[in-house]
Parts: sequence; structure tokens; C-alpha cells
Amino acid sequence: MKGLVLTAKADGNTYAMAKKLSEELDFELQYFKDFKNCIRDYDWIILSSGIYGGKVHKDFLDWINRIDFHNNSKKILLFFTWIGFGKSNIKAYNEVKELLANKNLIADSEFKTYYGKTLLFRRKHPSFEDEFDLKHWVVKKIE
Ligand SMILES: Cc1cc2nc3c(=O)[nH]c(=O)nc-3n(C[C@H](O)[C@H](O)[C@H](O)COP(=O)(O)O)c2cc1C
Repeated sequence: MKGLVLTAKADGNTYAMAKKLSEELDFELQYFKDFKNCIRDYDWIILSSGIYGGKVHKDFLDWINRIDFHNNSKKILLFFTWIGFGKSNIKAYNEVKELLANKNLIADSEFKTYYGKTLLFRRKHPSFEDEFDLKHWVVKKIE
């Protein structure tokens, strides 16, 4: 089984989780901006981002714009990191879900959101438990 984890940048909370996940599951880790392969080549695709003003990273949105329409619907898993502001994760998820649907890509109806550390808040996240939870969620989804 060939898996792909896409993330926006090589530092930060989301990267820490994406990197760990890709290592644990032996999935390829790539950045939205640099991704030139075809997603048809992968059995599972995991998309990740921090939440910024109720949106995912702009490279994530640009990537969706760039991809071709898919004849065969492909299932995709999403996870986010955030500080826990309101329903900003649901807002970001709904936007991504709709944009993906326009390309015939189906975001799983469940998604995961984990706290990410900032200077003052959530300083213990993402934690070992967060990484463990994400890994097991993905394993359950793909088995
Ligand atoms: C400009 C900016 C906007 C943010 N907006 C939100 C938000 O709408 N909701 C939220 O819960 N967290 C928000 N955060 C916190 C980030 O989502 C959180 O720190 C996340 O882990 C960042 O991911 P990264 O380290 O991968 O960039 C924001 C952070 C920044 C810098």
C-alpha cells in the first residue's frame, strides 16, 4: 500500500505530526508547493494543515486548485492543528471538503484536530498522545 502525507511547510506543529505519522506508517511526506507527482499513484492520501483564520494554509488551497478532476473518486483523510478557537476547524474542513468534491475527491466525513503549541498556549502540544491518536485513527481508517 502506498501512502502520502502532504503538509505545507518544514516546521511547526502540523509538520511535527505529519513527519511522525509518515515515519510510523512508512508513507511519503511531501509539501503541497513542491508536489509534482500524481495522486492517482497513491492508495491513501492524508492532507494536513494548521488553521489560520478559519482556513487551511494557502499552499493547501493552491494545491487543490492545481489538481485535475478525477474520474475515480479517491478517499482522503484530513488532520489539522489549531489553538482551539471556536469552530474554525469545522469551517476550514468544510471549505476543503467542498473544493475537493469539485475535483471528485472525497474527504472522509471524519477529520482530526489537535492542539498546537504557541508562545503562550498549549505548550505541551502536539504531544506523544496526539501522535499516537493520529496514527491509530489513520491505521483504523485504512485497514
Ligand atoms: C495567523 C494565524 C491565524 C490563526 N488562526 C487560528 C484559528 O482560526 N483557529 C485556531 O484554533 N487557531 C488559529 N491559529 C493557531 C494555529 O492554528 C496553530 O498554532 C497551529 O498549530 C499552527 O500550525 P503550524 O505550526 O503547522 O503552522 C492561528 C495562528 C496564526 C499564526
